[in-house]
Amino acid sequence: MTRIELTVDGSPVSDDVEPRMLLVQYLREKLGKTGTVIGCDTSNCGACTVHLDGRSVKSCNVLAVQADGREVTTIEGLAKDGELHPVQAAFHECHALQCGFCTPGMIMQSVDLLNDNPNPSEEEIRVGIEGNLCRCTGYHNIVRAVQTAAGAKTEA
Ligand code: FES
Ligand code: FES
Repeated sequence: MTRIELTVDGSPVSDDVEPRMLLVQYLREKLGKTGTVIGCDTSNCGACTVHLDGRSVKSCNVLAVQADGREVTTIEGLAKDGELHPVQAAFHECHALQCGFCTPGMIMQSVDLLNDNPNPSEEEIRVGIEGNLCRCTGYHNIVRAVQTAAGAKTEA
């Protein structure tokens, strides 16, 4: 077992974990953060995307021990003071989901994309979310939601 200390969704946590434990397993099984989901076992789908020190990562591709001393934000830590994050609100407003399974990862990836590029073109959005798969929506409303969130941020 290895001792890790990190911040998850703004709260400090410390635990003894198996060195082989994946970050996504740690979040779900040890912390009960089941908003972060597992959609594949090949690192392809992006459903498990979280932020590590503010940048999106596929948490099935990171060991829990690699998050030691770092800051993790999951979909559960995105809303502040009961207010949805602008990207969450835009996904809701634009009906950018059907089954919802891809949504946590898609939103976390979109937030990172907009942090990097606050006013992306449609092409840049599509490239920015290409590591996140959605089986339901055909992506159209997802792209629209990211554009809507970008507009909201620009106006804010
Ligand atoms: S669970 Fe599919 S990329 Fe992580
Ligand atoms: S809404 Fe079903 S996988 Fe994206």
